[in-house]
Amino acid sequence: MKQQVLITADEIAAKVEEMGARISQDYHGKNLLVISLLRGSFIFTADLVRHIHIPVAIEFLQTSSYGAEKVSSGQVNIVTPFNKELSQYDVLLVDDILDTGCTMKTVYEYIQKCKPKSLKTCTLLDKPSRRVAEIEVDYKGFIIEDRFVAGYGLNYGEHYRNTPYIFEVLPE
Ligand code: IMP
Ligand code: MG
Repeated sequence: MKQQVLITADEIAAKVEEMGARISQDYHGKNLLVISLLRGSFIFTADLVRHIHIPVAIEFLQTSSYGAEKVSSGQVNIVTPFNKELSQYDVLLVDDILDTGCTMKTVYEYIQKCKPKSLKTCTLLDKPSRRVAEIEVDYKGFIIEDRFVAGYGLNYGEHYRNTPYIFEVLPE
């Protein structure tokens, strides 16, 4: 596999720290619950919450979408049903990347039905050029072009989630 580094570990660290600071400010005095979407956002979430300096509860939700390797089919399923009572919480949905937006939109609507106090979204990467679903992102890290990327939680095939930087997967 050929790769080209897009975002270095240092650039990611600086951005995540900045996002954590903003979230800490915005949610001061609120009852923040981060709901992190597995598996892609596990590393981003782990770093982000360590830059949140107010009390924060953390839950995980797993989604799956069927389709070819590099393309989301648009049909998103919630793999792990979520039973938490959310009416007391200010929920922040955290994902690794917003591509077509179908994943975030599906989860957003699913969580909205649980009637949280408030609901916002956060993603490290945004590929706006491929958007299909209408969804607002309240906190976004980097806007990227229509490239397939991996590293820092994002996978290519089964691998590269542990790569500390984000790279573009290039054709051989
Ligand atoms: P969406 O439903 O099309 O917005 O896709 C979102 C999900 O697809 C993300 O949570 C990722 O897991 C995955 N995904 C989208 N683009 C990429 C990519 O470039 N690399 C790795 N995974 C991606
Ligand atoms: Mg994902």
